[in-house]
Amino acid sequence: MYQEPVLPPVRGLPARYFTDPVVYQRVKTEIFFKTWQLACHVSQVPRPGDFFSFSIFDQDLFVIRGDDGKLRAFYNVCQHRGHPLVEGSGNRPRITCPYHAWTYDLHGKLIGAPNSRSVPGFDAGKIHIPGIRLEEFLGFVFVNLDRDCESMAKCYPGAKEGILALCPDIEMRAFAHEYTADEKCNWFAAVENYNECYHCKVAHADFAKGVIDPGSYNIAPYGQGKVLSHTSLATRSEEAWYDVSGSDYGSFYLWPSMSFQVYPGGVVNTYHWRPLAVDDVRVHRGWYSGDGEVDETLRKVIDLDRETTFAEDLALLQNVQRGLRSMGYRPGPLILDPKGGIDNERPISILHQWLRASVDGPGNGG
Ligand code: FES
Ligand SMILES: [Fe+2]
Repeated sequence: MYQEPVLPPVRGLPARYFTDPVVYQRVKTEIFFKTWQLACHVSQVPRPGDFFSFSIFDQDLFVIRGDDGKLRAFYNVCQHRGHPLVEGSGNRPRITCPYHAWTYDLHGKLIGAPNSRSVPGFDAGKIHIPGIRLEEFLGFVFVNLDRDCESMAKCYPGAKEGILALCPDIEMRAFAHEYTADEKCNWFAAVENYNECYHCKVAHADFAKGVIDPGSYNIAPYGQGKVLSHTSLATRSEEAWYDVSGSDYGSFYLWPSMSFQVYPGGVVNTYHWRPLAVDDVRVHRGWYSGDGEVDETLRKVIDLDRETTFAEDLALLQNVQRGLRSMGYRPGPLILDPKGGIDNERPISILHQWLRASVDGPGNGG
């Protein structure tokens, strides 16, 4: 009699993927320096001269709107002796370095350097702040440090259309609010946690009643790119956080570190993660409204999210990172249910493939 072969279960990743500085270095160069990263929202830089600075690992960067209305992104470094050019966000008619006042126009071209006329052969026309790739995607500004990277449409085929189907007016939104926290865990633990809802009923009781209908929750790969789509009906509980009628819940996670999320009724919010160290990552939680204001409903959702789901994940993740350093940890089998559904870690096994494809280099496999 024929018996189906029993395959060994797929297990969690060995702890070194979350703790080893060598792996972390490869994550930096092979993943974060080669993929699209969320910088800000277009509504945060609406006028010529508006800029927004941020960092990806140790690379300081900024986005600035030119007098031609176009957004550009640059390394945040003076071409004289390396001082950063801007800090935080604001507006500048020109970019003047705080160290020796070398001045650049909004296209990054050097237009003035004190006493440079005394230097034979000094050619300001040859000096530019190096630019980086930038794309606007549904009103969100993304950058990529890899000059040869594929466009977002090629990296995430169909994602734009999928997000528009979920929230047709997403391009009409403006940045309204953000909070951040340092999660005290490896970035990938945070991304794994985001992309499974096996823990939702256990750890996020409020979210599982207030926002989603857990029985309908599912996460699946989307299209041919590195995208995971979360879907759920809106909660039917009397403990709904707000009037959730209108449209259901969905989210689109774009590898490696950003997710568009739409709560029922079109409440647009985002997660993005910026690694700080092998065992720390800053999570950014953004909220977007029609006019950039936080109305009463949005205020309620933001406060409840921050006090429950967001705080609960912070506690889970710092505890997990501690466990990953334990000499007693052996990664257990993942719960892979071919039927899908909420109690399922299939997306985690997909994330493992994406991570390992970039990180497992020569001498670093297994
Ligand atoms: S380092 Fe910027 S002007 Fe000198
Ligand atoms: Fe969670």
